[in-house]
Amino acid sequence: MASLQSSFTVLATTPTPRNSSLSKPSLLPTTNARRSHRFRVSCSSNGGGGVDRRNMLLGLGGLYGASNLISGRKANADPILPPDLSQCDPTGATTTSGGQTVSLDVDCCPPYTDIQSDYKLPSFTTPRVRPAANRGTLKPEYIAKYQLAIQSVKRMRDLDVTDPDDPRGFTQQANIHCAYCNGPYDQPDHPGLDLQVHNSWLFFPFHRWYLYFFERILGSLIDDPTFAIPYWNWDNPRGMFMPEMFTFPGTPAYDANRDPSHIPTGTNPVVTLNVGSTVTDPVQIISNNLTQMYNEMIGTPASATDFMGQPYRDGDAPHGFSGGGTSEQGSHTAIHVWVGDPNNEYNEDMGNFYSAGRDPLFYCHHANVDRMWTLWKDIPADYSKEITDPDFLKSAFMFYDKNKNLVRVTVADALDYKRMGYEYEPSNTPWMNYRPQQRLVPANLESLSKTAQTVAKLFPLTLNNTVKVIVPKPATGKADETLVIENIVTDNTKLVKFGVFINDEDDKPEEVDRAEYAGSFTQLPHRVKAKQSTGNLRLNLKELYENINIADDKSVVVTIVPIINGSAVTIGSVKIVPRVA
Ligand code: C2O
Repeated sequence: MASLQSSFTVLATTPTPRNSSLSKPSLLPTTNARRSHRFRVSCSSNGGGGVDRRNMLLGLGGLYGASNLISGRKANADPILPPDLSQCDPTGATTTSGGQTVSLDVDCCPPYTDIQSDYKLPSFTTPRVRPAANRGTLKPEYIAKYQLAIQSVKRMRDLDVTDPDDPRGFTQQANIHCAYCNGPYDQPDHPGLDLQVHNSWLFFPFHRWYLYFFERILGSLIDDPTFAIPYWNWDNPRGMFMPEMFTFPGTPAYDANRDPSHIPTGTNPVVTLNVGSTVTDPVQIISNNLTQMYNEMIGTPASATDFMGQPYRDGDAPHGFSGGGTSEQGSHTAIHVWVGDPNNEYNEDMGNFYSAGRDPLFYCHHANVDRMWTLWKDIPADYSKEITDPDFLKSAFMFYDKNKNLVRVTVADALDYKRMGYEYEPSNTPWMNYRPQQRLVPANLESLSKTAQTVAKLFPLTLNNTVKVIVPKPATGKADETLVIENIVTDNTKLVKFGVFINDEDDKPEEVDRAEYAGSFTQLPHRVKAKQSTGNLRLNLKELYENINIADDKSVVVTIVPIINGSAVTIGSVKIVPRVA
């Protein structure tokens, strides 16, 4: 029985600016003043010669760069501004392969119009109710609902053929995700600095808006304003397999680019939320999943940003894996990996951000991700669930609405989903009661320590084998502390995973539903310039100490278990510090 305190994962994405020297100088006038003077280049004005335009942007950046004498972010931070669609780079979509940034041969830029407006949430009388996708018995009313969903996706796909420039078309909708994640958009006024909606506090609000417009468009294409996207209830054992309605070849909701072993008739049809797990016993998989859910929703986050993701502001370089919240990096990413086809070069479709939106299952998955945000909000906790930072609230995005109008939306307007006119059909959340079972008898630290080494002796090290290390605690026994695994250097081209346990006498690393499990580090191969990344893994220990019923000890024994490619990881050191709020 165990507990995944945190799982940190990253999808193929855009974590660093292409050229950080191009970022905005600290002392330039505010963005709004300059925005109106920017010259505009339409996506097609240079005959698709996107390279020219990129060069031009680089030229601009060079000018900025010349005056950029002050390094770091400017003191007066700003929200992330909506991208300037006229500056979308049709050749800008990239991913990582073999340690190199490679161009993807895909133009993710939306059609451009300079008629734009602020979006106003329309009034409504009946909320759209998103139903659970996986349910035991299928009542006729639900069969009808799902058929409607499939019908609407068909309408959307038809637009790809009849009018590829219609922003409501399926491919155009899928490309939105690529444009916001794989490099085509720069941050306005920061040429060369990618706009990235993952690995930060923008993750939930961006995807809420994305689904909102997708749903409204589907509804309008079938003339049913009550239409709602089903949610893939993968947090419930009943939902821990691919929803059937998506799995019939030749139907609109089907996508051939999925892991063949994970379809309902495949060899491993049970969802695993633990990337890289080799457990095959369905009971253990489900128990591990429920523990992971408990931990990422309740056990691990000790602040709103722990759950939502770290601050990300105008001029910031996109964060790497560690900027994402517990839910994004945990179950969210795990489902992407689980669905994408590992036989495809870039794990298309779900396993890479540029292609994820091409799988209709993406929207069903993200409806549940969004539902997790709503559930977390309502779970009582001893910290505030609100982020009131104006840079968060004023961050904004651009979407096409159901009438093909280009509209600007803010994070502030996405915080209350009920105002947006939809709700979730309630379904069971057994993970809420899945806190790992508390140990009655504390571990015997003295005998555990005999097999462990000191920090000074052991680190730095390459994680070729499981290691056990004695780590001093700032306070004795049960305290509000954080384990920090420092200077983790990984090869960016490799899938890497290791698990972390505290005072573990049983040594069963595949069973994460146990009190001793502190969390894991997962890195998917991803796009960055450098061959290696350096980062820290922080795991809050307060609840774990309760679970393992720690005695009044002055130290713990930390076990670090390489799960995938340990030889591609070096760790600088390990320490325990008082938790910083
Ligand atoms: Cu934008 Cu699930 O990713």
